[in-house]
Amino acid sequence: MRIINTVSGMQAFSRDVRKSGKTISLVPTMGYLHEGHASLMVEGKRRSDILVASIFVNPTQFGPTEDFNAYPRDLERDRKVAVSAGVDVIFAPTASDMYPHGYQTYVNVEQLTLPLCGASRPGHFQGVTTVVAKLLNIVMPHVALFGKKDFQQLAVIRRMAADLNMDVEILGMPIVREADGLAMSSRNAYLGPEERKDALCLSRALDAARAMYRNGERSVPLLMEKVLRIIGEVPGAVIDYADFRDGETLETLETANGQTLIALAVKIGKTRLIDNCVLGEE
Ligand code: PAJ
Repeated sequence: MRIINTVSGMQAFSRDVRKSGKTISLVPTMGYLHEGHASLMVEGKRRSDILVASIFVNPTQFGPTEDFNAYPRDLERDRKVAVSAGVDVIFAPTASDMYPHGYQTYVNVEQLTLPLCGASRPGHFQGVTTVVAKLLNIVMPHVALFGKKDFQQLAVIRRMAADLNMDVEILGMPIVREADGLAMSSRNAYLGPEERKDALCLSRALDAARAMYRNGERSVPLLMEKVLRIIGEVPGAVIDYADFRDGETLETLETANGQTLIALAVKIGKTRLIDNCVLGEE
């Protein structure tokens, strides 16, 4: 496995791969890799000849009061996870190479970024779409893989790629969970032992709403009541949002169906966790 640290080095590598007729998959990450990231990598490897994983804690997607500095980083550990997941190249650029002096271009997806994480994290998605657009231009992959754990992010990136006629397939992958249901996340590293238990209220709430839906309940207010009650039982949990939305448009609705997304953002102590499910999916 190679590690490439410069934008020009990565572009030269990808140009050569493409010239030789081979295909490229890209898995963009911010590192501190876990099995969720690895599942994207394994699928990326299956889909293409060459698998590139980017590791870049992107400053432009963090708000001024958010955890950019504290975000966990461990390139040595990431290297091992990447090797065993079949990564051929880690692309780990510096912030000054990605955003040199004079940088002033940003990509903005309009409606889809307004609700949910867009409402609670102003500027976040502009940072995400900008860095993903740059990574796609630099790595020039045929396929780019993203997790449904960040459901809105995936929807926004799909929209960007379609609207800007990007010649890349965007692939969404299922959420990988710990054995007890907690969605894997680099931010789980922030949780203390008690908080780790409290964090289960997100997946518990989603499971309970899903069970009600399976038993025929379609009323969003009643499903919502259940979700709020379960999270409310945990004193250390503070809801940022709990929302039922159409899985395509992210618009609100009163009656649930198989495409309905339940999206949660909950603070456990200082750690903000997100999770979601689509009611008609397993
Ligand atoms: P990061 O949080 O590191 O996640 C990288 C990719 O892994 C994202 O597509 C995310 O949805 C996916 N992922 C994270 N946890 C997952 C899980 N438990 N199951 C399945 N997939 C999971 O998302 C980002 O980085 C950044 O915003 C990025 C797209 C790299 C742009 O900076």
